[in-house]
Amino acid sequence: NNTLVGFGAGKVILLGEHSVVYGYPALAGPLSRGVTARGETSNKCQLVIPEALTPEQRKVLKAAFGRAMAACDEPGVRVSFNTDLPLSMGLGSSGALSVACARVLLQAAGRKASAMDVANVAWEMEQEFHGTPSGVDHTTSAMEQLILYRRKPGAESGRSKVVESPKPVRLVVVMAGARSPTKTTVGALRERQKRWSERYQRVFREIGLLASEGAEAVEEGDLEALGDVMNVNHGLLAALGLSSPGLDDMVHRLRNMGALGAKLTGAGGDGGAVIGLFHDTAPAVHELTRQGFRCFDSQLAGPREEGATRGAA
Ligand code: PMV
Repeated sequence: NNTLVGFGAGKVILLGEHSVVYGYPALAGPLSRGVTARGETSNKCQLVIPEALTPEQRKVLKAAFGRAMAACDEPGVRVSFNTDLPLSMGLGSSGALSVACARVLLQAAGRKASAMDVANVAWEMEQEFHGTPSGVDHTTSAMEQLILYRRKPGAESGRSKVVESPKPVRLVVVMAGARSPTKTTVGALRERQKRWSERYQRVFREIGLLASEGAEAVEEGDLEALGDVMNVNHGLLAALGLSSPGLDDMVHRLRNMGALGAKLTGAGGDGGAVIGLFHDTAPAVHELTRQGFRCFDSQLAGPREEGATRGAA
C-alpha cells in the first residue's frame, strides 16, 4: 500500500489580476506554501472531504474531483489533502488543491506527467470552483515558476512565459480581513465594464502594460522599478473599485515599513491578501506579527541563499 504524494503551490499575482480575465498579461509566481494531497491504493477512486466544509462546499469539491478523476480514467486511489495556505484570501488555494489532486491522480493512473499535463487535469477542477477563471492560478501552481501569463479564451490553458530573475524577489504576504468570493468580485466588475466598456478597457490595457514592464524589471534585477509598478497597479485596482479601506491601510503600512512596492493581490474587494516587496522581509514579518497580523514571507523567483527557508510563520 504505497502512498502517492502531490504538492500544489499557492500563488500570488504580482501584477495584472482582473485584467488577465480580459486577455491582458499578468505576472504571477508560486508560494512555498500550498496544498499536499496523498493517495492510497483503493478499489474506488474517491476524495476524502474534510468534515469542516459546508454542504455547498462539499458539493462543489465532489463535482470538481469528479471531473479530474474522469480525465484520468478513474484510477483506484483514495485521495486526502491538507494545506498550510490561508484559505479564501486570493492565494490560489483552489488552484493549489486542483494541482495537488491532479498530480496524485496522474501518478495513480501510471502516467508520466509534464507540468502542462498536470495543468490540464487541474483545469477541469478549477472550472467547477470558479466558473470561467483566467487559468493563472492553476498554471502558476503547476509550473512552480514566476510566469507572465496570458489567457487564450476558450482554450484549456493560456500561454505562459517563464520570467527569470538575477536577484531574489522576496515578498511579505499579509492577511487584511475577510473577503467575498472571487466569483462575486469578478462578476460585479464585469457588470461595470459592460456598462462603461471603453473606460474600463483603457484601465485593463494599462494594467496589462504594467505587467509586461514589471516582467522586464524582474529580468533586469531592478527591484525599485518593480516596486513602483506594483504601487501604480494598486492605484489602478483601486480605481476599478477593487480595494477597500482595510486593503489600502495595509498597503500604506507596508510602504511605511520600507516596502519597495505594495498592492492587493488576487480578487480584492472587501479584504484579502496584500503583498509587499522587500530586500529583507524579516523586519516587516516581525513587526506585522507583533501588531497581530497573520503574515508570512516567500521568495517568488531568483537565486536562493544556501539554507534559506522559503516560507516563515
Ligand atoms: O481567486 P483569486 O483571489 O486568486 O483571484 C484570481 C485572480 C482574478 O484575476 C481576479 C480572477 C482570475 O480568474 O484570474
